[in-house]
Amino acid sequence: MSEKNLKVLVLHGPNLNMTGFREPDVYGKKPLDEIDDDIKAEAVSLGIEVRILQSNSEGILIDTIQEHRRWADGIIINPGGLTHYSISLRDALAAVRLPVVEVHLSNVHAREEFRRTSVISPVTVGQIVGFGGFGYQMALRALINLQTEVV
Ligand code: DQA
Repeated sequence: MSEKNLKVLVLHGPNLNMTGFREPDVYGKKPLDEIDDDIKAEAVSLGIEVRILQSNSEGILIDTIQEHRRWADGIIINPGGLTHYSISLRDALAAVRLPVVEVHLSNVHAREEFRRTSVISPVTVGQIVGFGGFGYQMALRALINLQTEVV
């Protein structure tokens, strides 16, 4: 990643456009557009350039990842239900060889058994779960930390 003007692609997968309305006890009451406003505000304060996209289509998510392979320094993704089975999405993330942070609004490890498996996690730097929309802000900071970290 470059030293300044970090560029981050933020992707929300299927059904996340319903955030704030669907199962608010699980996913919170804040609508996705407000979560996105918070991400943008945090990005400005951190000096990060963000592009944000939500799609219910696996193909559009994969196309967007491929199209941003040269633009982005890192990717933050909440793959929604695709988390648990989409090998194609995993392969797309692996192919672009960018640092990826996986975010989930809910604590997937405290829910149904099938949500504990992520086929995406093995190609990510790490997972942030259970902090609602704030998890995306944590992910922005995680990407900055990666950039500055001395290995
Ligand atoms: C989710 C968790 C997934 O299991 C679920 O399918 C979602 C949302 C989350 O943000 O907690 O759609 O990714």
